[in-house]
Amino acid sequence: MKLSSFLRFAAFGIKTILFKKKAPILGTVIVTDKCNLHCLHCAVNNITGTVHPYEHIRREMQQLYDMGVRILFFCGGETFLWNDGERTLRDLVIEAKGMGFLIVNVVTNGTFPIDLPEADLILLSLDGDRQRHNAIRGDTYDAIMDNICNATSDNICFYMAINQINKDCVRDVCLIARDAKNVRAVSFNFHTPYPGTKELSLTRDEKAKCCEAITQMMKEGAPVFNLKSAFPYLIENNFPTPCHQCVVIENGKLSICGRCIDVSGLCDQCGYFFVAEYTLLFRGNLKVIFEMLRTYLKYI
Ligand SMILES: C[S@@+](CC[C@H](N)C(=O)[O-])C[C@H]1O[C@@H](n2cnc3c(N)ncnc32)[C@H](O)[C@@H]1O
Ligand code: SF4
Ligand code: SF4
Repeated sequence: MKLSSFLRFAAFGIKTILFKKKAPILGTVIVTDKCNLHCLHCAVNNITGTVHPYEHIRREMQQLYDMGVRILFFCGGETFLWNDGERTLRDLVIEAKGMGFLIVNVVTNGTFPIDLPEADLILLSLDGDRQRHNAIRGDTYDAIMDNICNATSDNICFYMAINQINKDCVRDVCLIARDAKNVRAVSFNFHTPYPGTKELSLTRDEKAKCCEAITQMMKEGAPVFNLKSAFPYLIENNFPTPCHQCVVIENGKLSICGRCIDVSGLCDQCGYFFVAEYTLLFRGNLKVIFEMLRTYLKYI
């Protein structure tokens, strides 16, 4: 991360903590909800099948920038299905960088060739070893591994949603993240029980066991892009929600924290690590602040 970006984030953090401000810094644009997969745990794919036009996405990016957002995510549906005429996802990333976003990340299922060197991080969903990943995501594991190997840059970070099917695969995914070419780290979430997916949720004790496994892998030097200091709150589900510093925009609709904000009662069962990490950070939790400084400077 550039020193100028670091100083900007530090100033934002200090202002937010001292004055209890609610302005956003992290924003997500949903470029489409269309997806080539139908993963068992997912409730946000292929609802409208709309691929939003370039001008529409550009306006949403500008809206987020004007609100103060400087960390931008492109998400879906499947982001690599986005195009508008000649324009591709890569053009959106380049556009976002040109607009002044300091960190630009993309979330993908990894089933398309990866050529996004301008992105700071490509969060690529890997949900376990071959067997468990394929049980959740269809027969995609081998194609994804080929795409990772042939990627044109080394900015890939695995993104694993831990649930009943893959809860024993934390170690496998950490080891692949450590050893695979082009992969920088792995970032975890716990399953968030959207309606119709409740049976995939982990119990408190299962979450504790996963956090133990992640901690052990951190000790063994695996590149984990999460904060250990947030684990006790994630296990007990007692971190503050929602995250006011995060916003998401989909088809002109702006939501605080996530699209899921409208699902009644879901925030109490939220499994997204970023929510725990950011809300604790901006409440001034010292352990989280120091660990975040170390972790972000290492991986971005
Ligand atoms: C909705 S997908 C969109 C981007 C892309 N299609 C992908 O799969 O990475 C973004 C991330 O949300 C995760 N996700 C989907 N449903 C979830 C749930 N119920 N709880 C936690 N994470 C979930 C996916 O595993 C993926 O890592
Ligand atoms: S690939 Fe992503 S958007 Fe598509 S179904 Fe799976 S988690 Fe949902
Ligand atoms: S806190 Fe609520 S809105 Fe935010 S990600 Fe979790 S469930 Fe979604």
